[in-house]
Amino acid sequence: MTHPVVILGAASFGGGELLRLLELHDGVRVTHAVSRSQSGRNWSAVHPNLGNRARIERFVDEVDWTRLAESERIVVFSALRHGELAAQYPTLETAWQEAGLAERILLIDLSPDFRLEGSPGGFCYGLSEWMAEDLRGARRIANPGCFATALALGLLPLARNLELEDASAYGFTGSSGAGLTPTERTHHPFRAHNVRPYQPFQHRHQREVDRMLARHAHPVDWSFIPYSAPWVRGILVTIEARLTRPVTEAALARLYRESYAPSPFVLWVEPPPGLLEVVGSNRCLIGGAVEGLRVAVFVVLDNLVKGMAGQAIQNLNIACGWPVDRGLDRLAGPYPA
Ligand SMILES: NC(=O)c1ccc[n+]([C@@H]2O[C@H](COP(=O)([O-])OP(=O)(O)OC[C@H]3O[C@@H](n4cnc5c(N)ncnc54)[C@H](OP(=O)(O)O)[C@@H]3O)[C@@H](O)[C@H]2O)c1
Repeated sequence: MTHPVVILGAASFGGGELLRLLELHDGVRVTHAVSRSQSGRNWSAVHPNLGNRARIERFVDEVDWTRLAESERIVVFSALRHGELAAQYPTLETAWQEAGLAERILLIDLSPDFRLEGSPGGFCYGLSEWMAEDLRGARRIANPGCFATALALGLLPLARNLELEDASAYGFTGSSGAGLTPTERTHHPFRAHNVRPYQPFQHRHQREVDRMLARHAHPVDWSFIPYSAPWVRGILVTIEARLTRPVTEAALARLYRESYAPSPFVLWVEPPPGLLEVVGSNRCLIGGAVEGLRVAVFVVLDNLVKGMAGQAIQNLNIACGWPVDRGLDRLAGPYPA
């Protein structure tokens, strides 16, 4: 039996990716794609890349939760803009309580609203590879940020196993990371053929990574400078750390291979990876180099897949006790793009 899926904010980039990927998942079926701005239009009017089902199905502006009362479990993904789910959450919880569903709702939020420690609602932080124990059976999941995913997957094995003097991280992201609404900085004529740093040392995803460092390693003196890059999808992060004792390249490779041995998605590669090797897929590829006491780690992932919708489906699988790659195992991007 498949579980019904409701997507809030289904007209967003995240919503489009969830619709694309969930068509490949045999444990669930999208029954409601909710969009207040696109209600009544076909899914394909907003996401023309989707298959034929999208030419028939329409966005709705609300859900009659009582009609889902027969379901053993209801999966709700929220791809709403920052702050929107937090604003709607009390009303939603009341509606779920009244329909007798609250215990059967698995809510996975893609926004930053519930990611940090101390956020209301008792959400489990969904960095899949590191939080699987907590995610099993979880009913409220805060999916990590895209940069936070790349930074944490790259930094955690180092910080957990080696002694770091300090570390500096630099990350390039494509324009889809900025979401649907264009701004002067994200508008194509100003972004194409351009690269610029933004929010140096201040990016909000740093706090998510610090939370994971405190939980799985120990605090590290590190900094992060993000750059907006001219492509549409994908993140490339470089982490450079200074060690207290030297390590060989072979030992570094072993460290990452062992850290991610159970994961079908996070792989150590040689030589260091390029963006096109991950775009469209749920993979995160990591490579590295060593020079004396300095070590560099290179991480690539697709911000809309492993950095968002793909990781959300990984978390759905973990929460439901399914194989972690259910629905994601055959996903591959085009090469060349
Ligand atoms: N883009 C990424 O790479 C990425 C990666 C990881 C996480 N995230 C997070 O995931 C969520 C979805 O991101 P996204 O980039 O796919 O889409 P987005 O541009 O943030 O928009 C998401 C949805 O929010 C609503 N919305 C948009 N502008 C709004 C406004 N001015 N006022 C009120 N509502 C508005 C719309 O839903 P309705 O049609 O229902 O009005 C829209 O479909 C965000 O919280 C984002 O921070 C994004």
